[in-house]
Amino acid sequence: PEKVSIKELAEKMKMQPSVIIKKLFMAGQVSTVNTELTYEEAENIAIDYDIICEKEIPVDVIEELLKEDEDAPETLKKRPPVVCVMGHVDHGKTSLLDAIRKTSVTDREAGGITQRIGAYMVSVNDQKITFLDTPGHEAFTAMRMRGANSTDIAVLVVAADDGVMPQTIEAINHAKAAEVEIIVAVNKIDKPNANIDRVKQEMTEYGLISTDWGGTTEFVPVSAKSGEGIEDLLETIILTADILELKANPDREARGLVLEARLDKGRGPVANVLVQKGTLHVGDFISAGASSGKVRAMVDDKGNKLKEARPSQPVEILGLSDVPNAGEVFLGHETDKQAKQYANTYLQQHKKDLIEETKAKMSLDDLYSK
Ligand code: GTP
Ligand code: MG
Repeated sequence: PEKVSIKELAEKMKMQPSVIIKKLFMAGQVSTVNTELTYEEAENIAIDYDIICEKEIPVDVIEELLKEDEDAPETLKKRPPVVCVMGHVDHGKTSLLDAIRKTSVTDREAGGITQRIGAYMVSVNDQKITFLDTPGHEAFTAMRMRGANSTDIAVLVVAADDGVMPQTIEAINHAKAAEVEIIVAVNKIDKPNANIDRVKQEMTEYGLISTDWGGTTEFVPVSAKSGEGIEDLLETIILTADILELKANPDREARGLVLEARLDKGRGPVANVLVQKGTLHVGDFISAGASSGKVRAMVDDKGNKLKEARPSQPVEILGLSDVPNAGEVFLGHETDKQAKQYANTYLQQHKKDLIEETKAKMSLDDLYSK
């Protein structure tokens, strides 16, 4: 047929005609269920709500895509570990991260590194480590729920003068549930009342037994204040990563996680993402949750402009249509259309309630069809 009515289109798209009527209304066109649409008009609507057109992405495909897709073993190459620092309030997470940056970052800017992206990469003897700034437990859980763990290793900070505290236990539980390797950093050993053995003792209750006590967990005594033990900690991370044999295929379209995102007045949506697989390039089409777009620019943790980002690299990207949620998976796509369709399918799947709400508010069906 040359033309299709809104009613027919709505039936095909398995949605209420009011949604289409509302969309046209917003674009300045008054219509009813009987209004005839040209193919182009229908396609425009369909693109916006996904479905039809040449390539349809069924809803279950989203779940498929969100699952960890396996790459052939021969395509895998070594990648740096992604480490998150967790622990009880005031036990020294931030200080430890600062100390690590001072120890290992060679090309330091005067006045310290500007931390733009909530994550950064350091180099230790030519080996890289990505640190994620303590993600809130919520974000951590969200990422875990998506079956796409962001971290390989958790550094659990426990103050040697305070011992195991409620949030230490919470952190242990999170790390265990996410099945990440735990390294315990016993911090504040410079303090006179520091007691490393007490921390080791307390941790046995949670199944974390120090290697020198016959267990399998590395306990590294450190002082974020004096810098003592920081190199040991970094070496332990590298050794642990080697044992884990962390690998990813860098030669495929990128896939990763949104760590955080915000709307910047001048630059639009800005997303800090962690590339987990593949390589992300400037110019790539991507979707992240319900937003999509073309990567316009990429910046690393030191503010350097990048052309590409490889597995385990955290980067700030510009070019998305909307601000995605933290913990959302981002995916590279071959075409703009695919990225958009993916985002729209995602929107449909996750924001059905939102559309329902809009529908209820608009009640255009009532207005026009009776
Ligand atoms: P929250 O972000 O509030 O959970 O705290 P945090 O775990 O990031 O702790 P932070 O790094 O802010 O440190 C808390 C306090 O402990 C600060 O006053 C630090 O100066 C102090 N501190 C951290 N590490 C050390 C250490 O190794 N030795 C000593 N003596 N003090 C430390
Ligand atoms: Mg802190």
